[in-house]
Amino acid sequence: MREKLTLGIESSCDETSAAVLRGGRELLANVISTQIPVHQKFGGVVPEIASRKHIVNIMPVIDEAVRQAGVTLADIDQVAVTYGPGLVGALLVGVSAAKGLAFALGKPLIGVNHLEGHIFANFLSETSLEPPFMALVVSGGHTALVDVRGYNSFHLMGQTRDDAAGEAFDKIARVMGLPYPGGPRIDALAKEGQPSIDFPEALVGKGNYEFSFSGLKSAVLNYINSEKMKGHELNKPDIAASFQRAVIDVLVGKAFEAVKEAGRDTLVLAGGVAANSGLEARLRAEAARQHVQFHYPNKILCTDNAAMIACRGYYQAEVGRYSDLYLNAVPGLDLVEV
Ligand code: KG4
Ligand code: ZN
Repeated sequence: MREKLTLGIESSCDETSAAVLRGGRELLANVISTQIPVHQKFGGVVPEIASRKHIVNIMPVIDEAVRQAGVTLADIDQVAVTYGPGLVGALLVGVSAAKGLAFALGKPLIGVNHLEGHIFANFLSETSLEPPFMALVVSGGHTALVDVRGYNSFHLMGQTRDDAAGEAFDKIARVMGLPYPGGPRIDALAKEGQPSIDFPEALVGKGNYEFSFSGLKSAVLNYINSEKMKGHELNKPDIAASFQRAVIDVLVGKAFEAVKEAGRDTLVLAGGVAANSGLEARLRAEAARQHVQFHYPNKILCTDNAAMIACRGYYQAEVGRYSDLYLNAVPGLDLVEV
């Protein structure tokens, strides 16, 4: 029997993306049209502009993905789309396009949770990976530890009470005058600096899998303001290195404690902040020390993309978890515990 072809569609924030996946893991095309240059002059994503750009880009991006995959729309067996969490106007563009295509092609629709998609990016990078494993999800909107017990069985160990890690990266970069998105800029600056400043780390008690980054963010902002008031020139590389170390210390500490608590032997990293070279290096070193297997997606699969959505959709369809044409965008969608 021919392997199923899944068309994936992603438009939850500032990337319009479409992908074609054969079976669960063979990526035939992954087209990503980023709006970062459009939003950069505003210092962050402007939701209304994002929706308008998605409307312009969505069909050309889908056409290009199908062309690159060397198939036609008629060959597609199912359509998977992000329906949350994300910006409501942005999500609606992808959801509407997916519903229209599913209806016109007479093929099933699969509504996908964006956060689950980020975790599933790991199956595309590491094709032999199988559950169970622990996943550390760190994106612009979320920070969470998820025990992945099976392809359709997740347990949320804990998540952030306030800011997401990526959000803190972006806000601190902005105050330092760096362009959006700030994560990659801080990552690069941190390599030139020393973590010489002690910033506070929150909720570090044993057995606590919740995160909080708002106190750290305020401490860094206060430090920057007081340096400016004293007329000191900011040592941006040291500030970046010190902030990044504080974030990484917390993420690494909690991730390996969660691995132990759940009795897992594998840890995966997921979400846009997974592209952070300092985080990846520390997790890799700690994994080697603790004899834990460690995987993280290729850089292009770390940040938002439709390949991960197609992959998540494929495994939902395997157990018959389809959506009907009443599927709606759910901006505040949580990670569902199944
Ligand atoms: O997963 P993602 O593409 O979008 C959301 O679902 O939120 O994550 C975007 C976030 C942004 O906050 C961005 O600054 C951060 O990922 N990011 C990074 C790096 N690359 C992207 N943060 C730290 N270091 C990086 N290299
Ligand atoms: Zn994302």
